[in-house]
Amino acid sequence: MKTDLLKLTDSCGCSAKISPIKLQEVLKNLPLSSDPNILVDIDTHDDAGVYKVNDDLALVLTTDFFPPVCSDPYDFGQIAAANSISDVYAMGGTPVVALNLVMFPSSRLPFEDYSEILRGGSDKASEAGISIIGGHTIEDFPPKYGLAVVGYINPGKIITNKGARPGSSLILTKPVGTGLVLAARKEGMASETDYLEAIESMKLLNRSGAEVMKKFGITGATDVTGYGLAGHALKMAQASQVTISLRMSSVPLIGSTYNFIKDGCIPGASLRNLKFAESQTFFERDLDYNLQMIAMDSQTSGGLLMCVPEGIKAEIIKELHSAGLTSSAIIGKVLPKGEKSLILGN
Ligand code: CO
Ligand code: CO
Ligand code: CO
Repeated sequence: MKTDLLKLTDSCGCSAKISPIKLQEVLKNLPLSSDPNILVDIDTHDDAGVYKVNDDLALVLTTDFFPPVCSDPYDFGQIAAANSISDVYAMGGTPVVALNLVMFPSSRLPFEDYSEILRGGSDKASEAGISIIGGHTIEDFPPKYGLAVVGYINPGKIITNKGARPGSSLILTKPVGTGLVLAARKEGMASETDYLEAIESMKLLNRSGAEVMKKFGITGATDVTGYGLAGHALKMAQASQVTISLRMSSVPLIGSTYNFIKDGCIPGASLRNLKFAESQTFFERDLDYNLQMIAMDSQTSGGLLMCVPEGIKAEIIKELHSAGLTSSAIIGKVLPKGEKSLILGN
């Protein structure tokens, strides 16, 4: 019988991330290194670390791994790899090589699933133009998979979550809703069409979005993953010392995402993300409850959230659409720093 990986885990993909509140508590007690070649570290909660080799070259270093987000092992491998590589793209880097990180219960699942997960990762890596040159596997249930990725970047052209400037607009390149669709799928509430739309979106590399960012000299961006749109926008606002205002009705959604909340489907990760965002967010009085919870939805392999100068936003949207990122939309604005770091409205 074919394994359904989705049945093996409670929290799917990036929604298995530890609470950002707990993470911050632990990280703040760790000493920061004073090595002058470190250009980006955990201090600003950016997507990846950046280490300068010389004046023309720096390394972008990142890793992500998580339990299954879908039923099929080959899809899972592709999605986990696309998600891991994404942090390099979010920094404006070019991925170069990667290592496999694998946890697999060899006594509980057929060996074929193991090889299918790795084949998915390997195919996605080839699509990104990188090689997987090693890795490590341990026994663990449920399975988990991801990559440690190394990329190249010019030290003068790093795109960070510190680079959002007041007056700019925010563009999101993929639709939101993977957390809700997967949770609904587990409950038997999501249609095959919604499920496949989520799978296709998670498999999609953020490469073309990153190319557009580089072409237009964008300086501020992040990718949207486990902490949801609100959580990642908030981290960007804090790192950049600005306030970000999101217009939730402009956010592109996967299939019936909006209705799953109406039907009472709210994943635990959304409540965890809400708890993190709450104290630093101004919720406009007429904010639709479903849209509020969509902002908290934990994304796996989500899109790029980029901060673009007002004068070129239409041109960038056009470029993203013709690059195949047809859901790309303007979803908010960057304001001077106000009382709260994030404003959520309809
Ligand atoms: Co990221
Ligand atoms: Co990451
Ligand atoms: Co970044």
